[in-house]
Amino acid sequence: MAFACSNCGYRSVKGFGRCPSCGAWDSFAEVGETTASPQEASSWLGEELRPITQIDLTDVKRIPSGSDELDRLLGGGLIPGGVILFGGEPGIGKSTLLLQVAQTLAERIGNVLYVSGEESESQLKLRASRIGVLHERLYVLSEQSLERIAAAVETLSPCALIVDSIQTVVSGSTEGESGSLRQLREASGELIRLTKSRRLVTFLVGHITKDGAFAGPKSVEHLVDVALYLEGSRGEDLRFLRSVKNRFGATDETAVFRMTAEGLKEIVNPSQFFLEGHRDDPRPGCVVVPILEGSKPILVELQALVSPTGGYGVPQRRCTGLDINRVLLLLAVIEKQLAVHIGGADVYLSVAGGLEARERASDLAAVAAIVSSLRNRPIDTKTVVVGEVGLSGEVRAVRRVAERIREAEKMGYARIVVPSVGTPSVKGSIDVIRAESIERALEALGLA
Ligand SMILES: Nc1ncnc2c1ncn2[C@@H]1O[C@H](COP(=O)(O)OP(=O)(O)OP(=O)(O)O)[C@@H](O)[C@H]1O
Ligand SMILES: [Mg+2]
Repeated sequence: MAFACSNCGYRSVKGFGRCPSCGAWDSFAEVGETTASPQEASSWLGEELRPITQIDLTDVKRIPSGSDELDRLLGGGLIPGGVILFGGEPGIGKSTLLLQVAQTLAERIGNVLYVSGEESESQLKLRASRIGVLHERLYVLSEQSLERIAAAVETLSPCALIVDSIQTVVSGSTEGESGSLRQLREASGELIRLTKSRRLVTFLVGHITKDGAFAGPKSVEHLVDVALYLEGSRGEDLRFLRSVKNRFGATDETAVFRMTAEGLKEIVNPSQFFLEGHRDDPRPGCVVVPILEGSKPILVELQALVSPTGGYGVPQRRCTGLDINRVLLLLAVIEKQLAVHIGGADVYLSVAGGLEARERASDLAAVAAIVSSLRNRPIDTKTVVVGEVGLSGEVRAVRRVAERIREAEKMGYARIVVPSVGTPSVKGSIDVIRAESIERALEALGLA
């Protein structure tokens, strides 16, 4: 018998209350024997040994999830035998999105088992009716016992299993309360074994809280094939689904959704969505910047308002969707390098549409918007600006500049101001203006 720490992997012949290696509490769980005695080993004939060239791939077919954006995030669709950890804060929309996926799989493939350890079957039905997800082959089960879930899988032979959430599943053969690391590891391990042996598509929902109680789902991230996290702020209806681990595709991808009464709707063209309301008549203080969400460029409008501080008041500096410390630094750069006095003015900055532009690549656009408002001169509405700004006013290279240029071109923009360093030559209909300093960029924008 052997025990291992779920946090650091420390192995021992006995379990500990607290791991002597990493200090984690209640992290020891029994692990299966992976060793064989010399006698067993010598009698093993090695039938499973085969060269990699003889491994058959014809049965690995991707299954569409019903959401093109989710499929793109997964690298082309769901894979039978794949386990996806689906994390997110409470109330963000995890159950909603997974019910939608369950509906598609029930319609197109076969039985789907949706197990909820948190909600009753009638609660599930209420949500499913609201979002229009009702199908004969979609089975719901309100259950927490790992053994009963496994028995339900045996009976139903589903093509997909959704466990909402993994923190509620308890195994009768393991000590510890539901949600404890030991139970979490045992339940995940068993469900992964079940998934691989029956070639299911399995989603394990994991709750993550704002105060960093990430430890639960994070501790099984290394066991699963894909880890997706649904993010957003509950007051707003936008949701970002990010992939942080993917054994079958690229990571650092993002899909954008909008929460509606009928469920989560994907936003296929985020640039168009976020530029809605961006008017064609030029207004001082407004500029469009291509920011990156994962590896996806999205065009957003950045707005600045600079107005004289009344009386003897303290000048205000406020911003939404940008990093205030970065904005203060940019104001100091403008003041010093352009020799303009901005200390006696209030400065407000905002990203239209509720998106965040905290990337340094939006520096140059922030500088352009501030100077445009200060001088009361608009920037041409067909121009996009991107670049990081250094303390001496130089424009520094940004990541994935070619993709940003292509997105601006795709959205019908005529011109883009980019850093002169690190920008490859891009062929196309868009006019690429390279700037090595903020002075040169402002000159190109007609703000000098
Ligand atoms: N009628 C509605 N119109 C629009 N949005 C709604 C409506 N009803 C619920 N919602 C949204 O759905 C969210 C709850 O979705 P869901 O239950 O899928 O989230 P969850 O991540 O599974 O939550 P939990 O952590 O409780 O399991 C609510 O926070 C709300 O944003
Ligand atoms: Mg839920």
